[in-house]
Amino acid sequence: EELSFSEAILRASGSISRFPLIPVRGVPLMCSIANNWDSVWSFCPDPADLLIATYPKAGTTWTQEIVDLLLHNGDAEACKRAPTPVRSPFLEIFSPPPIPSGLDYLKNTDPPRIIKTHLPFQLVPTRFWENRCKVIYVSRNAKDNLVSYFHFDCMNKAQPEPGPWEGYISKFMHGELSWGSWYDHVKGYWAEREKRNILYLFYEDMKENPRREVERIMRYLDLSVSDEVISRIVELTSFKNMKENPMTNYSCVPPPVFDQSISPFMRKGEVGDWRNHFTPEQSKMFDEDYEKQMKGVNIPFRDLI
Ligand code: A3P
Repeated sequence: EELSFSEAILRASGSISRFPLIPVRGVPLMCSIANNWDSVWSFCPDPADLLIATYPKAGTTWTQEIVDLLLHNGDAEACKRAPTPVRSPFLEIFSPPPIPSGLDYLKNTDPPRIIKTHLPFQLVPTRFWENRCKVIYVSRNAKDNLVSYFHFDCMNKAQPEPGPWEGYISKFMHGELSWGSWYDHVKGYWAEREKRNILYLFYEDMKENPRREVERIMRYLDLSVSDEVISRIVELTSFKNMKENPMTNYSCVPPPVFDQSISPFMRKGEVGDWRNHFTPEQSKMFDEDYEKQMKGVNIPFRDLI
């Protein structure tokens, strides 16, 4: 009998706790990932598979939905066949049984698959590059990304305790959060984007002009959908619609794990919410450190100052 995703999580919820992090080649990962690292590292994708790579909370779910809709010519019902993590497996995730791992879902899905990862560039299984898979990287300005991650860690009972806000900023700056340093993450993919033909997107661009970015993704995937379908996809992937859609709003991960009464998965979906969180002093300290960590790299992040 195949359990539904939510049912499996409910059955495992007693053994889900705030898992500690263990470094893999210097990158702190949830211990369940670190303990299964060999099977992740040796994963072999199909050349037709697409990888969506992000630092956590940069706009992964939004991009997964846009891509699934593009592949289904804007068919909303087809894209409600299952919740996001079933339609678009999370490569490196391992949860207690009976929850299937990301690799289990991949085993049971035929290519072309939309694979999600938060791994930094150097930890992406090399066969993705050998097989010349397409890769979409989505980045988000550091301060908004940090704010979103903080609220997520408050509600996600599988992630380490975020602790107080001030200390969380410091952990982010020092690369101590799950999946490591934001700075190394965005720089790692940026440096390889041309050589590896990576489509490098920005959350702020998607907010500014979603239609332009959906069309950019369409061209990258060598798809051609009508203007009308593009309009429909933009509408279906608005923050409001994705928040209301049970297949995209992560209500599939029930409260013992994602306690959305603490903070909803679809929280605000805005650019610049960091201004409601950082004090002027925290912002100044962050900016000074940012300049050092991003020295010599000119990634056009916006809305950071
Ligand atoms: P906030 O916490 O700032 O609201 P991920 O999918 O990588 O975990 O990212 C989640 C972040 O993207 C959350 O940010 C969430 O609200 C936002 N998001 C998800 N879908 C969105 C959409 N359709 N439009 C805008 N933002 C969206």
